[in-house]
Amino acid sequence: MNSGSKLINVALFSSGNGTNAEALIQYFENHTRIKICAVFVNKQDAGVIARANRYGISVILFNKDEWNNGFVLKQLQQSAIDYILLAGFFWLVPNDLIQHFPDHILNIHPSLLPKYGGKGMYGIRVHEAVLKSGEKMSGITIHLVNEDYDSGTILFQKELLINPGEDAVQLAVRVNALEKYYYPRVAETFIISGRNLGGYC
Ligand code: GAR
Repeated sequence: MNSGSKLINVALFSSGNGTNAEALIQYFENHTRIKICAVFVNKQDAGVIARANRYGISVILFNKDEWNNGFVLKQLQQSAIDYILLAGFFWLVPNDLIQHFPDHILNIHPSLLPKYGGKGMYGIRVHEAVLKSGEKMSGITIHLVNEDYDSGTILFQKELLINPGEDAVQLAVRVNALEKYYYPRVAETFIISGRNLGGYC
């Protein structure tokens, strides 16, 4: 893994629209140290597939059996993947994958964890829950992935003030803009130097 000046190979995982995956692909295009090698997708109709195709990035489609029976791990090993970035990916990561990539799997979440995380908390549901609770503040969290949903070590958070009268869709758009800006930069810093934290605030 990650040594000398060889390119560091990264795989993205996505289940949906893929705006974060596209921001990562764009940011690391022609990067001198980090290469996005493939996008792993678990939904046949996910918008991320067309986005990856536009940039000529390989798409590896997999189902639940392949997720749990070692197929995905084998694909990652065959491509000599060093780091995994989850980008709008909604299945729990199996333990064997975490053990093969200790502290090498990152995720982004559209709230200030530990608030509004956990099983079933993804996408627009997160923003609806934030607004329903009357929060004044939301934001993003970039964290390491462990064996449970949204509970790994937090690497970076950025707060966002909620506008009066804002609805969940409007909030999602503003949170997504933060995600697309910070995720590539935080991932870059973490992957290259193994440290992070707050440098972009
Ligand atoms: C993003 O907001 C991401 O943070 C969130 O899903 C959205 C995916 O959008 N992830 C989670 O909620 C993870 N628990 P995208 O497919 O356009 O990147």
